[in-house]
Amino acid sequence: MIDFLVIGIGRMGGIHARNLAASRVRGARLKAVCDTDEEKLEAFRKKHPGVETYKDYREAVLRSGAEAVIVATPHYSHTEISEYCLVNGVNVLSEKPQTVTVGEARRMNAVAAEHPDLLYGIMYNQRTNRMYAYAKKLMDEGALGELRRVTLVVTDWYRSQFYYDMGGWRASWNGEGGGLLINQCVHQLDILQWFVGLPVSLTAVVKTVNRNISVENDVAVIMEYPSGATGEFVASGHEPRGTNRLEIAGDKGKIVIDKHKMVYIAYERSEREINASVTAGYGSTRVKKTYATYGVFRKLADAIYGQQMRVVQRFADVLNGKAKAPTAYGAEGARALEFINAVYLSAYTGRKVRFPVDADEYDELLAKLKEEESIKCP
Ligand SMILES: NC(=O)c1ccc[n+]([C@@H]2O[C@H](COP(=O)([O-])OP(=O)(O)OC[C@H]3O[C@@H](n4cnc5c(N)ncnc54)[C@H](O)[C@@H]3O)[C@@H](O)[C@H]2O)c1
Repeated sequence: MIDFLVIGIGRMGGIHARNLAASRVRGARLKAVCDTDEEKLEAFRKKHPGVETYKDYREAVLRSGAEAVIVATPHYSHTEISEYCLVNGVNVLSEKPQTVTVGEARRMNAVAAEHPDLLYGIMYNQRTNRMYAYAKKLMDEGALGELRRVTLVVTDWYRSQFYYDMGGWRASWNGEGGGLLINQCVHQLDILQWFVGLPVSLTAVVKTVNRNISVENDVAVIMEYPSGATGEFVASGHEPRGTNRLEIAGDKGKIVIDKHKMVYIAYERSEREINASVTAGYGSTRVKKTYATYGVFRKLADAIYGQQMRVVQRFADVLNGKAKAPTAYGAEGARALEFINAVYLSAYTGRKVRFPVDADEYDELLAKLKEEESIKCP
């Protein structure tokens, strides 16, 4: 039985804490929670009198005796708290994003590498989606052949002005280091890099549409991949009926993943074979289609308990010797962040950005955006 401490019991951490307290995670129990907000602690104590409560995360880590910590505080504090856990011999599962800048993520990963005996995971819960797991298997097997095209459309993150006005740290450079990209799209960008890796370069435009915020809620990106393939990534948070679609086309087939269903189309002959053999202007091939879905019961369970609980379960399973690897290692968090930093760099400098991203250049840009925001909203 693994004793957990949840640091930050706001919207997300509150769900983690409740799931653990209700024994919904096998082989895990809630030992303690921590939050800087005394009112939240008081409310939690009333409902869960047996759970220790702390106001200071350092004290919580040192005194609770928990073997595993879930960090669910605002982004900028994720690595500071995760590092403190590792240095003090405690396993840690960080909420996404790993942090805000790729430079800080690289620094954190160096710290984690010094503690290989401890588990450092990150809450990339969308990886538990069965369709993505199937697509990942296809990608790892090379089922699509040479990468030709990637199209990711994520316009279903509708967020109203009311949402932005709710949390002080949300949708600002000073509070969370970005907008739609860093808060919401980081999930899909993790999935994208999980499947096809990072591009060699990208060019981006970001905008704020019909919201009183200083960060973006509209994004358009063109990517170039090492194979020569191109990609487009479009995201928005202002379409009441948005789309969620990932298409990956290869030489030997393609996958199309929508919100609740996907299809894998395997070509009988590769595009190279078709092109080498046809003597007409057009060409085609017979195909085999395989379908997969999110699953009705799974969707229902995820809606009730949160898809995130599957990540906590896997994390506990690894610590209990029942699984080999967590849903995502913390170090993998740097990759989607690098993509996001590249998008901001490109959008704010008006030029193509190459990978690996220059972390110092991004730090300078972010410092400038934070300063300008502070001047506008002191
Ligand atoms: N995995 C997901 O799908 C998902 C969904 C929502 C939020 N999140 C992530 O969870 C994190 C928190 O988001 P939220 O919506 O719950 O925010 P929130 O503002 O509702 O909760 C954050 C909590 O952390 C507390 N806190 C802040 N600094 C602290 C510190 N130093 N020590 C202890 N407590 C501290 C705050 O008082 C607050 O209660 C964010 O990084 C967000 O990206 C992830």
